[in-house]
Amino acid sequence: MTEARLASERTYSPYSHFPVGAALLAGNGEIFTGANIENASYGLTICAERVALGNCFTAGRHDIIAIAVYTPSMPVAPCGACRQFIIEFGKDIIVVFREGNEVVQKTIGELLPYSFSF
Ligand code: THU
Repeated sequence: MTEARLASERTYSPYSHFPVGAALLAGNGEIFTGANIENASYGLTICAERVALGNCFTAGRHDIIAIAVYTPSMPVAPCGACRQFIIEFGKDIIVVFREGNEVVQKTIGELLPYSFSF
């Protein structure tokens, strides 16, 4: 969560002014971070979680243990698109996010039952 908070200081979010940071723990203990990157064509925006996953994969790590999400303004859980993106890499990945004053840990399988796959 600390790494996710640091990543939330490195977003490109001039349109929403809603910075999001993500930090992903790989099997070897390495941490990969991501921040949301917005675009004038709003739909092209990439969420922090998906940037973190891209950084992890391009570093050659495919074993993801957990992903934490941090937003400075109000606590949020990962969006539906990111849940689908995360579950691609394992139903048991732990998602850490804030809910009120609590830090919640759920598996991505719990957050996205009946996910799409073929
Ligand atoms: N955002 C994320 O980075 N992750 C999410 O799970 C939900 C939303 C970003 C996208 C956009 O830059 C901003 O939050 C407001 O929607």
